[in-house]
Amino acid sequence: MTSAAASEHAAVARAARHAPMPAVLEARSLSAAYSGTVRLADVTAAFERNRVTAILGPSGCGKSTLLRALNRTLELIPGARLTAGRVLLNGRNVYDPAVPTGLVRAQIGVLQQKPTPFPMSILDNALFGARYHGLAHDPAAHARTYLERVGLWNEVNYRLGSSALALSGGQQQRLCLARTLAVQPSIILMDEPCSALDPRASGVIEALIRELAREYTIVIVTHNIAQARRVADRCVFMLDGEVLAAGSRDEVMEHPMHPIVRDFVTGQCG
Ligand SMILES: Nc1ncnc2c1ncn2[C@@H]1O[C@H](COP(=O)(O)OP(=O)(O)O)[C@@H](O)[C@H]1O
Ligand SMILES: [Mg+2]
Repeated sequence: MTSAAASEHAAVARAARHAPMPAVLEARSLSAAYSGTVRLADVTAAFERNRVTAILGPSGCGKSTLLRALNRTLELIPGARLTAGRVLLNGRNVYDPAVPTGLVRAQIGVLQQKPTPFPMSILDNALFGARYHGLAHDPAAHARTYLERVGLWNEVNYRLGSSALALSGGQQQRLCLARTLAVQPSIILMDEPCSALDPRASGVIEALIRELAREYTIVIVTHNIAQARRVADRCVFMLDGEVLAAGSRDEVMEHPMHPIVRDFVTGQCG
């Protein structure tokens, strides 16, 4: 490719990354409480297909609560309750009693803050959710597909039967991501997925996030501003359970209108 063609190609790729996409997941006026105390207040946010949306905001502002409300895991926490609002997945309210919660949680996968491999083999970890949902018809091929997808296959293929707990932190987190992908979700929620990892392992996960956005819609909670700049297409900024700003990464992070958002993204608070 000539350098002119290469720069045109790069410009087209950049424009494609910023073009609006239909929202695949939407929070509409969501409110939630723990033991009667409101911690999410009238949150409306749209998550576009094949985009990485970063949820930003100071500790305790409700980022994890919003994620839990999106895939109906909030109701698994004693005392926690969604008090108002809807979550639309491809236009359908996931809180509609006719929608099975198992289906919602399969469609909207999660990657937790700390790697959470189960005390079992690497293979059994990779297949855990897929088996539960009846998706591992050819277990060996299924596991390989998703271990390859997260770049772990070459590191573990000769020891699939050994304990997942012996893997490094970064490998464990990629195994957890493989376990999530193996359930074949369309959306992946990530709650500070790199906060327990060293910079190198974080970089591997960040590269994976960008790659996976071609196929999946990703919502990532991060308090790492530099990470949000690297991986996000769009941002939602929260404070005290409310959305303070939402838009493209540039709108929210490079040209913030709200002084609190400005202070946060320039590292002056948080
Ligand atoms: N299980 C819980 N029981 C009671 N309060 C909670 C629980 N989880 C979170 N909270 C409170 O809800 C608020 C939002 O928490 P969280 O969503 O975890 O914030 P963030 O992820 O932005 O740090 C905080 O004030 C937190 O203390
Ligand atoms: Mg949190």
